Amino acid sequence: MAKDMLSDMDGLKRSHYCGEVAVSDVGSEVVLMGWVNRKRDLGELVFIDLRDRTGLIQIVTDSRSSPGAFEVAENVKSEYVLAVSGKVQKRAPGMENAELKTGAIEVAATDIRILNTAKTPPFYIWDEAGADEALRLKYRYLDLRRAPLQRAMETYHRTSMAVRNYLSSRGFWDIQTPVMTRSTPEGARDYLVPSRIDKGKFYALAQSPQLFKQLFMVAGMDRYFQIAKCFRDEDLRYDRQPEFTQIDIEMSFADEEDVWAEVEGLVAYVWREVLGVVVETPFPRLTYQEAMERFGSDKPDTRFGMEIKDVTQVFSGSSFGVFRSTIDQGGTVRAIAVPGMAGASRQEIERLTERAKLHGAKGLITVAYLGGEVKSQIKKYLSEEEISGLARETNAAEGDLVLIVASDFDTTVTVLGRLRLELAAKLGMIPKDRYNFLWITAFPLLKINEETGRWEAAHHPFTSPLKEDLQMVRADATDEEKSKIRARMYDLVMNGVELASGSIRIHRRYLQEKVFALLGMSQEEARVRFGFLLDAFEYGAPPHGGIAFGLDRMVMLLAGGDSLRDVIAFPKTASAACLMTEAPAEVDTERLAELGLLPAKEKDR
Ligand code: AMO
Repeated sequence: MAKDMLSDMDGLKRSHYCGEVAVSDVGSEVVLMGWVNRKRDLGELVFIDLRDRTGLIQIVTDSRSSPGAFEVAENVKSEYVLAVSGKVQKRAPGMENAELKTGAIEVAATDIRILNTAKTPPFYIWDEAGADEALRLKYRYLDLRRAPLQRAMETYHRTSMAVRNYLSSRGFWDIQTPVMTRSTPEGARDYLVPSRIDKGKFYALAQSPQLFKQLFMVAGMDRYFQIAKCFRDEDLRYDRQPEFTQIDIEMSFADEEDVWAEVEGLVAYVWREVLGVVVETPFPRLTYQEAMERFGSDKPDTRFGMEIKDVTQVFSGSSFGVFRSTIDQGGTVRAIAVPGMAGASRQEIERLTERAKLHGAKGLITVAYLGGEVKSQIKKYLSEEEISGLARETNAAEGDLVLIVASDFDTTVTVLGRLRLELAAKLGMIPKDRYNFLWITAFPLLKINEETGRWEAAHHPFTSPLKEDLQMVRADATDEEKSKIRARMYDLVMNGVELASGSIRIHRRYLQEKVFALLGMSQEEARVRFGFLLDAFEYGAPPHGGIAFGLDRMVMLLAGGDSLRDVIAFPKTASAACLMTEAPAEVDTERLAELGLLPAKEKDR
């Protein structure tokens, strides 16, 4: 295209956003600015869909009535940037587009200026499913022009504004904490930043503001919040990014009820402001133990039933070997009733059994209640009482398929919990537009790290143990005791997603030292890593507690997205790469040398 077709704004002012021109504007002159979404050339008439962040409007040019504008329109292509002046008119009868907010009107252009041209984009913005994700991530600035991502960014903005407004109105101060700090123990690997000045030493990028927010309480700030960037080098999945954003909250002189009341108020406010949805408070509460027993998960999706039932009693006299030996060894037999699945084929049952094995079970027993008959691999071992007892305990009705797992408690409930979720999704049992918030409380203080086999803090080591369990907080506690200590920790779960997590903290040095010792940390190690916190606790630390939401997760749920990539403007891939900037990238040897990071051999060259 000839360069001389390009124009500048030259003082021209936009009068309206594209999506905001209304039927009431018919007859008025408007000036619009935006991108060419699509163009249709019908010979004497050229139609352009002009797009900005508010939506689309149809521009029409006619070779007879406005030849200047028509000539320019003939030359524009997708994604050109235009300034369009013209008059709003009603569309010809039958030409309305009910799908479009501006579908009853159009702008008859009198002047079109091309403010910039565009190469043919690697994918069309209007094309919903056209390109693969890698290409979209490489050209994220184009992907972000698409309506769903524009809406997601708007939702992100509205959510963070609502959060700030609400928390500020409740007396929380928005104060910043450092991103470059020492390692904070949230359980993931740190991203490290080498020090140039102090070679061989490193900052860690904050995994969360945990220690700083507690120090704010020692410092008398009373109520704090921050929309904080956090960095964790961990395995990524749909709801985990290496760089994410928390709504971080801390309160002094607060117990669980105080924190929960503030959080419920915040959630209700955000859901009302952003979605116009009324959320009922207070939220139901479930202990960790109960959640595991009923749903096999510490983040249960309570939008549907299919709860796990303990049927150990039903099979206490079972002649089936696996049930027998499991029960004799102190294990448990549990089951879920899957509605309407009694007619499942043998292949389907095999597939389910494979899934159960993948989740850790040795096998899966099924009992189908169909046409007054019972179908099961272990039918010959089942007594009449067991068949009716199983139906009674699981609420199984005619047409249902009961899935049974026999093993230790953890395996049994986890496997059934996962099958429960998979089957509910497959059978379409999960209602949409339902927001089921739920507090999970009384988590265990410690858990065994699967990789190292060592006990570690289930949340983080600053979480207060439950008062009743304090006598077990000793360096010489047995494994049995360690597994039993409960924490003043809570998670906020919605629709099966962990939305927020927090705790009432330890605020006295001696208890903090005891918990460090319980975690197998020597006094010296505790002093080196957390001396500043232990010292601070000796200068009048108030009782305090708090919580952190995943803000990206919250927006994902509000925007109805499936992945954090649907709501984070510039996300990373599963291998923690940014396909647009190509980070992480190599750096030149000079810079490495300056940071003392070159291996000796390289340096000598
Ligand atoms: P926690 O580690 O549970 O607690 O994190 C709090 C919340 O942050 C979100 N979240 C994430 N979101 C996206 N990607 C990730 N990689 C990721 N990791 C966590 C989750 C989670 O519930 N300092 C404590 C909070 C406290 O005790 O106040 C903490 O960081 O929604």
